[in-house]
Amino acid sequence: MHTTTDAAVSAVPANAQDFLPLNGTDYVEFYVGNAKQAAHYYKTAFGFQSLAYAGPETGVKDRASYVLVQNKLRFVLTTPLNPDNDIARHILEHGDGVKVLALWVDDARAAFEETVKRGAKPYLEPVTEEDEFGSIVRSGIHIYGDTVHLFIERKNYNGPFLPGYKAWNPAYQPTDTGLQYVDHCVGNVGWNEMNTWVDFYEQVMGFRNLLSFDDKDISTEYSALMSKVMSNGNGRVKFPINEPAEGKKKSQIEEYLDFYRGAGVQHVAIATNNIIQTVTDLQNRGVEFLKVPESYYATLLDRVGQIDEDLLPLKQLGILVDRDDEGYLLQIFTKPVQDRPTVFFEIIQRKGAKSFGKGNFKALFESIEREQALRGNL
Ligand code: FE2
Repeated sequence: MHTTTDAAVSAVPANAQDFLPLNGTDYVEFYVGNAKQAAHYYKTAFGFQSLAYAGPETGVKDRASYVLVQNKLRFVLTTPLNPDNDIARHILEHGDGVKVLALWVDDARAAFEETVKRGAKPYLEPVTEEDEFGSIVRSGIHIYGDTVHLFIERKNYNGPFLPGYKAWNPAYQPTDTGLQYVDHCVGNVGWNEMNTWVDFYEQVMGFRNLLSFDDKDISTEYSALMSKVMSNGNGRVKFPINEPAEGKKKSQIEEYLDFYRGAGVQHVAIATNNIIQTVTDLQNRGVEFLKVPESYYATLLDRVGQIDEDLLPLKQLGILVDRDDEGYLLQIFTKPVQDRPTVFFEIIQRKGAKSFGKGNFKALFESIEREQALRGNL
């Protein structure tokens, strides 16, 4: 849902340097009200498999965490076991949401030192943890809202997930749906805060601003937002940042901020190699997606040119297509996956395009606004 416009592509800052080498996303951790049931939902609906577990049975007293895996994608679902801890407070305030965007690094101490030296607020001092499978080093810093980045160094570890977790091998392991890895994670921040976080990712994390677009690019009659896409040096980690913009009615970003009660992760975009198959599977398993009007498809090929896929299944499933200078992409957005209109997922298949689907913004926003109106928040 974030994309390019030729005029808005920023130059790479001359001082961009990779003092924070990242191998990719290590995992995404959600704080949820009922991790046992959430795990079942992600397994059944999204095709994740059980990987590891931590909780009272493994010596952890204040929480239960279920680790799910699908290809290179790892989700951790954590719930508090008493009301007097940060997890419980997080859920009371934000509802179910993303707490941790964990990044896979070769040196978690250096990652902490380099980012804190540049102004990051520490969340977790570097700590070494061990079990019979080896040792890991973890550290962490605060980002927008109550969200954090953890740096995970696992080169000396070959256990199922992290020390403290036990392998979790239930009989029930649904087949996967072809979800591969995290393509990008989008944060919503408050009014006038986007550039603060753009500066943070540039100066503290060594990222660069790939693309920008403002409310002239992305507005419908009602709702508007501004967005900038931040990418790390090797391009494996991309964090678009959204801020609301003034429109005739309430921006969808503002609706998120009201219900999440502040900044947080808006969506996690997950890559697939076959979006038609993946979305067919997901819909058959009950995942709900935003739908665009049929008229979107009447002029689609005029807008994006020749594509490999047949138009009919794209239209039946509601998959969107956009093209940039390097190729095209196919994408679709789920409805929010909890009762507050906050976190959702994007499923994306890239065929050369490195952008984020700007051409679909208008159609999408109109779809989001139809849902927003149904909730009485427009
Ligand atoms: Fe996106």
